[in-house]
Amino acid sequence: MHLLKQTTAIAFGLGLLMATTAAHAGGTVEVLHWWTSGGEAKAVGELKKSFESQGGTWIDSPIAGGGGDAAMTALRARVVAGNPPAAVQLKGPGIQEWARQDVLNDVDEVAQKEQWDKVLPPVLAAIMKYDGKYVAAPVNIHRVDWFWANPAVLAKVGISEMPKTWDEFNADADKLKAAGITPLAHGGQPWQDATIFENVVLGIGGADFYRKAMVELDPNALTSDTMVKSFDQLRKLRGYVDANFSGRDWNLATAMVMRGEAAFQIMGDWAKGEFLAAGKKPGVDFVCAPTPGGAFNLNADSFTFFKVHGADRLEGQKVLASLIMSPGFQETFNLAKGSIPARTDVSLDKFDACAVKSHEDLLAAIKNNTLVPSVAHEMAVPRSVRGEFLDLVTKFFNSDMSSADAVKELAAAVKRAQTE
Ligand code: BGC
Repeated sequence: MHLLKQTTAIAFGLGLLMATTAAHAGGTVEVLHWWTSGGEAKAVGELKKSFESQGGTWIDSPIAGGGGDAAMTALRARVVAGNPPAAVQLKGPGIQEWARQDVLNDVDEVAQKEQWDKVLPPVLAAIMKYDGKYVAAPVNIHRVDWFWANPAVLAKVGISEMPKTWDEFNADADKLKAAGITPLAHGGQPWQDATIFENVVLGIGGADFYRKAMVELDPNALTSDTMVKSFDQLRKLRGYVDANFSGRDWNLATAMVMRGEAAFQIMGDWAKGEFLAAGKKPGVDFVCAPTPGGAFNLNADSFTFFKVHGADRLEGQKVLASLIMSPGFQETFNLAKGSIPARTDVSLDKFDACAVKSHEDLLAAIKNNTLVPSVAHEMAVPRSVRGEFLDLVTKFFNSDMSSADAVKELAAAVKRAQTE
């Protein structure tokens, strides 16, 4: 063979070998998630990009549906078929539920090497571990108890400050309604109904009451006057939504606020990701303020690692775990997602005022013991109990059920789910 040709052949062969090695340097991960809205897709795109830039192969498995109910159904089918995805957007007690079934891999070697315990709030670290080992990695801290509003729409009826109590909200909403403006952009889906309801309970009862009723599931708290009042407030909110609310996706409700078709939305700060993805400026095109309660309703996204086999897939899980927890990624991802980093040592210099407020209120809530986990977002109770909450709240929202009947039905349903 001609020398040049021979060299080329060797170089080509080497290149091929290197290319093959490079393609597997970061391993392979199949990632199941429900981040399909504008802001969400942008945020998860950052994760994919970083993983691939480290030489990994990313297999994307998005299952549309806010709040993740459809994704969780798909996950169950995959696990039952003995073919789970390597990494799943899964959080809260759900992590423990799957771990008990012995279907998770741990990434503790990475966690120990990188000292995750030192940089995560203990409350979050505990959720990520099973049997003392990390089986999940947190990407963010979302806050659920937010009002989002269009300031230009509020100005039309002379509202210059965000409401601090539910009574103030009702007064604002009545003004807007009288002026022919939809006060509340809402999507009638069970998880969205439950999102606004739990924020109402937090505002009316405060953090201690919320914990007793919604987390400890105390029957007296569940049937108390405070709970009746919370349903009364939910009934009021029902009167503030437009006629087409049924079934609407949450991001379409956010778009109504953006376009000035409604004044407020009550939603976690993934709504901010939507505003930002549409080029809207915080404090100018939209404003944020916590819903009443002086607390912090916590929802943290994490990726949980399922049992996969083979060197390439195991490597993929390790690389992904390390990447998720890297400070640079936590910054980039959360700037797009609307949340704040899960790591406590990432600077918030590049973040907006809503994120800074979230961080300040989080620290205060940890100090004052007013940090509560979201039921609607799978941070508080087993899925079976959450399911009963969602069903009852949605039934109430879409009927003329009285608040007195609602508390009785809710308490009975929760009890049923606990004894099943
Ligand atoms: C998740 C968010 C997501 C939202 C809407 C929440 O449960 O934690 O990451 O953006 O659902 O899909």
